[in-house]
Amino acid sequence: MLAPNEIAQTVIDPACYQDNRIHDALQWLRREMPVAKIVTEQHTPFWIVTRHADIMSAELRPDDFCNSRMATTLPTDFKNLPPAAANMPMPRVLTSMDGSDHRAFRRLTQSYFAPQNIKKLEARIRELARRSIDAMADAGGECDFMRDVALMYPLRVIMEILGVPEADEAYMLKITQEIFGGEDKDLARSGDAEGARTGIRDAVMEAMGYFGAMVADRKRNPRDDLASVIANGEIGGEPIGISEILGYYLITATAGHDTTSNTTATGLWALAERPELLAQLKADASLLPGHVDESVRWASAVRHFMRGATLDTELGDAQIAKGDWMMLSYLSANRDERVFENPFEYNVRRPQNKHLAFGYGPHVCIGQHLGRMEMRIFWEELLPRLSSVELAGEASLTAATFVGGPKSLPVRYTMA
Ligand code: HEM
Repeated sequence: MLAPNEIAQTVIDPACYQDNRIHDALQWLRREMPVAKIVTEQHTPFWIVTRHADIMSAELRPDDFCNSRMATTLPTDFKNLPPAAANMPMPRVLTSMDGSDHRAFRRLTQSYFAPQNIKKLEARIRELARRSIDAMADAGGECDFMRDVALMYPLRVIMEILGVPEADEAYMLKITQEIFGGEDKDLARSGDAEGARTGIRDAVMEAMGYFGAMVADRKRNPRDDLASVIANGEIGGEPIGISEILGYYLITATAGHDTTSNTTATGLWALAERPELLAQLKADASLLPGHVDESVRWASAVRHFMRGATLDTELGDAQIAKGDWMMLSYLSANRDERVFENPFEYNVRRPQNKHLAFGYGPHVCIGQHLGRMEMRIFWEELLPRLSSVELAGEASLTAATFVGGPKSLPVRYTMA
């Protein structure tokens, strides 16, 4: 059994998310201490919420557990920095807003991301999926699926929606990886802890410079893209501020692809380890939505979001004090034995897959319909052409406490 300090260290250590040690700690927490205080030298103490029911209940109490007062993600080695200050370099984004402010900003793009509008993009997204799958076929039967296929396809989709030219996509990929992969020495700008901290901030600043030019252009010459919708957005008849515009660009550009890439690669990894599953999916198209949702649950690409308590209150059995910081562990909720039968089994036939990988409540992922559609289209295009797939080397996960998934996925395959 793990000692409490080992549990705490495991929760904050990106390496434990890479080798799955995190799951032992989360399983213990769900059973013994579902709302537990994590006290370490590296971070301001915080509560971790590990059960599915408690996370849903916290998400439905946004006035009590809010997004705007403290950092909404666990920062990398932000030693001695209070959680609020850790958020300082970031522009204002949806994930750090609350109440009517959050609702008004979210409304600006809500209809853009609604299923009926996203559907209009289906034909173009299918073209992009085919392009990626053709490249996979051209690779001659072996590739690193994460690097060569899964990273690029959702990136193309979201950049096209946003209006970033294709020539700048590689640059945007680099920046996103530096922001989300800052804890992983292979993806960060600099390998040490200080480098990770300043690297994430520098990457954000660099992205702001790039997007700043785009905002000016879309204000002058609006086009048929999301960047124009946001740049010319108004709330109460007033144009929205530059910090909010930049924040919107940043969150769309980053949240919109790494998550979907990680999940798509997780889905292929599942197939590479289960030849019978590939055969079943090829034979029965009705299993496809189940495969998409199970890959979303299995990957839990967004491992957590943080909240701050606005009052003295209770969650589960825990007494939470005003000003306390709290981690909602979606990774844990999605393996909660109370909700999922055999949670460590990849099962595309789950009758109801009530995962919380897209969050819940007022901040629930705005891009979930787009993400699901991208993945459905991808599998619809790939499965009829894929005859076999297996691992061709050791696959690995990223070392990341926030957003992560497969870092490398070498596969061997046969394709029509
Ligand atoms: C498999 C893919 C994805 C996963 C697992 C995922 C997961 C999440 C999660 C867990 C949240 C926070 C929810 C909460 O606090 O309750 C979130 C929010 C968000 N996601 Fe996604 N996401 C995915 C795809 C996308 C895509 C394709 C976009 C496209 C733009 C997107 C944009 C956003 C935005 C803007 C927010 C902030 C919403 C708010 O705070 O109101 N996501 N996502």
